Amino acid sequence: MPPRPDPFHAHRADLEALAAADRRRALAPRAGIDFASNDYLALAGSYALAEALAQGAARGIPAGSGGSRLLRGNHAEHEALEAHAARHYGTEAALFFPTGFAANAALFATLPQRGDLIVHDALIHASAHDGMKLGRAERTAAAHNDPQAFEEAILRWRAGGGGGTVWIAVESLYSMDGDRAPLADLAVLADRHDAVLIVDEAHATGVYGPAGQGLAHALAPRANLITLHTCGKALGCEGALLCGPAIVRDFLVNRGRPFIFSTAPSPLMAWLVRQALEIVAEQPERAARLSGLVRHAEKRLAALGIAPSGSQIIPVVIGDNARTMRIAAMLQAEGFDIRGIRPPTVPQGTARLRIAITLNVSTRDIDAMVDALSAAMAAA
Ligand SMILES: Cc1ncc(COP(=O)(O)O)c(C=O)c1O
Repeated sequence: MPPRPDPFHAHRADLEALAAADRRRALAPRAGIDFASNDYLALAGSYALAEALAQGAARGIPAGSGGSRLLRGNHAEHEALEAHAARHYGTEAALFFPTGFAANAALFATLPQRGDLIVHDALIHASAHDGMKLGRAERTAAAHNDPQAFEEAILRWRAGGGGGTVWIAVESLYSMDGDRAPLADLAVLADRHDAVLIVDEAHATGVYGPAGQGLAHALAPRANLITLHTCGKALGCEGALLCGPAIVRDFLVNRGRPFIFSTAPSPLMAWLVRQALEIVAEQPERAARLSGLVRHAEKRLAALGIAPSGSQIIPVVIGDNARTMRIAAMLQAEGFDIRGIRPPTVPQGTARLRIAITLNVSTRDIDAMVDALSAAMAAA
């Protein structure tokens, strides 16, 4: 008998090609001092959240929702969280999703309509890309953090006969670069072009703003703003809150396929996220302590010629994929959990170490990490 064809031959070849380009990924167990997580305020494993979870369970809030929100899955805790989030973020309404990925997929696939244009930052997250691919609007990338490039894209499209609504999509704090979007300028641009501004606050929520509302909170309240607040990063939980005008919530409940055809998130998680929002608002000292640690890290890293990003996410761009992974491996061997990030997560030729500063580390940990980084960069 001739050998049977291997149905996975294309997949094997693809993985081999990734390996040849030093881009093959594998899951690694968590180990070492945390310079890799998005648990910026050290809430994920905190006593405060563990206690809140126990309290919620003791109140009889169920772990599972049992169905989609439009069927039996809608629970009072979902609605309580959404009402709380709308007040907290200063918007008309909010909608809770099981992940930020699902929220972005629903948002970008559903809200922009055929005949509309999405102008997105060139570095916008993969989940926004996947949502846009599912949707019907045209899309174009604008140079990173360049409001003029956004405006030129809009003007070009209008000049070519584009008549629909323009959607401007950015992250307030970029996940792999740690830099901030020029939100005030983009809001003016959105007003000038009757556009909607979509701001993904995944890495800013909890860390910035007087009560951890994020960076877009500094904009005056506006009817053309939608923000996404993921709950799995600084809030230490999971899920995401999409905040904006009531019509956005209503439309997604009616038309958002990832929302409609999916089991509702755990009511216990909805309860926990609400407690996390309160903890963050009541304990601004957490964000203040983080800011002190970031300043300390920036000072130490400057000695290695590493420029500050202005946030808790500090990229160390190495460029070469293999060298990046060698340096990361050396640091891991020294007990520091620092990961190498390669294309396509970051643009070609910009492989990097992504150093995240969180309240899971001390200034002493930072000092030791910078010494190890200096040695690894010299040796690799
Ligand atoms: C900017 C940004 N948006 C959205 C997401 C997706 O959020 P989640 O991890 O909750 O799915 C992430 C997380 O990776 C992110 O960094």
